[in-house]
Amino acid sequence: MTTPRPETLAKLTPVLTKRWLSPDAWRIGTYEKLDGYAALRKALKAHPDDLIQLIKDSGLRGRGGAGFPTGLKWGFIPQGDGKPHYLVVNADEGEPGTCKDLPLMTHDPHSLVEGVIIASYAIRANRAYIYIRGEAVHAARRLRNAVQEAQAKGYLGRNILGTGFDLELVVHSGAGAYICGEETALLDSLEGFRGQPRLRPPFPATHGLYASPTVVNNVGTIASVPYIVLGGADWWKTMGTEKSSGPMIYSLSGRIANPGQYECTMGVTLRELLELAGGMQPGHQLRFWTPGGSSTPLLTAEHLDVPLDFEGVAAAGSILGTTATQIFSDQDCPVYATYRWLEFYHHESCGKCTPCREGNYWMVRVYRRILAGQGTHEDLDTLLDTCDNILGRSFCGLGDGATSSVTSSLKYFKQDYLDYIEGRTAPKLSDKQLVGA
Ligand code: NAI
Ligand code: SF4
Repeated sequence: MTTPRPETLAKLTPVLTKRWLSPDAWRIGTYEKLDGYAALRKALKAHPDDLIQLIKDSGLRGRGGAGFPTGLKWGFIPQGDGKPHYLVVNADEGEPGTCKDLPLMTHDPHSLVEGVIIASYAIRANRAYIYIRGEAVHAARRLRNAVQEAQAKGYLGRNILGTGFDLELVVHSGAGAYICGEETALLDSLEGFRGQPRLRPPFPATHGLYASPTVVNNVGTIASVPYIVLGGADWWKTMGTEKSSGPMIYSLSGRIANPGQYECTMGVTLRELLELAGGMQPGHQLRFWTPGGSSTPLLTAEHLDVPLDFEGVAAAGSILGTTATQIFSDQDCPVYATYRWLEFYHHESCGKCTPCREGNYWMVRVYRRILAGQGTHEDLDTLLDTCDNILGRSFCGLGDGATSSVTSSLKYFKQDYLDYIEGRTAPKLSDKQLVGA
């Protein structure tokens, strides 16, 4: 067990997580005692355009994985167009390894509700939705309770705090499909259709829910807004790097001593996160890890000092994604891990486009063959060729994401594949598991 150095401890910046351990923080009374709804009172006195400018000035970037500038997205909403505007919070957190939004909604749902009200006021929306993952029953219950409490206090509904601004907030539970976390599939699902991605452009900013201008933002993005309103853009920028500002919740899982959520200034490194998390489990050496969930290319022990911000991770050949840092050791097999992720993508593929639907199906079969000790050297070329035909040719990001661990594990761990093919590693799957992909 390692003890973090003071300079590493200083990277811990509890902002969004600061109330998580307070007893009953999910109740409105506790939330109000801890500064809750003070940002809303301040925001409702400002002009909506000034709030959009504030978010632009803060440099806040989307916390769902893509890192798109939030203020810019809000600024895309056309004004004076006579159409209804919508805010939709993407709470369909489903990326393997990702677990930052669920605890936020469970422990501190009012911070999200407050952020929704401020963001809706800024983009002139009178109806907002939180689309929450179907399996997240407890978090949905907490959110619905928070909405009722906020309504009873006059923070939601008609004429909010006497300002003339009206907002209805609906918490909608999905049905457990990973693809409904893709923003346009989410909108289809919300409209009552089967959740499948729509062609982009046009983007939801102009043609979103019911073909009206819509901002779709992640939970962490919207929950950051009250803090920026209260603390100011300059304060927010004191954390993080020039292009990746603010704190970020890193979800650490796998072979480490203390898994969990660590909210740190953006640009923290895995070496520092491991220090905060008590290091690797006894007897385990770091071998590979995902910087942002299974859709992001694997990194290795050589990348311990990569700054975990959007630019730093990109420079190392991966993607910051959802900051779901899954840590694997010398006792884990990168071929098997990749196979398990591929099974997930194959299962969750919505089937709309051929490269993803067929490509993932075939890659799962090839992996089974390799893991059953029946692979050939040509299989490795087949895998790379299939990835080449999926990447950039799929209709949405799910297809691209599925290839990440395949190409990166082949790049760093080709020998592990060869060990199965050439019989040095004992098969992990039996003949019976070869069929039925
Ligand atoms: P994207 O980069 O295509 O878009 C990001 C956002 O910016 C979207 O809201 C999009 O509408 C908006 N946008 C982009 N260009 C625009 C333009 N010209 N005009 C107006 N709006 C524009 O990324 P995408 O496909 O939405 O998300 C991919 C990310 O999602 C991946 O990086 C992955 O890490 C993450 N992801 C997260 C999951 C989770 O559970 N949180 C699950 C799976 C993937
Ligand atoms: Fe559906 Fe996969 Fe195509 Fe996305 S890439 S539209 S999930 S089949």
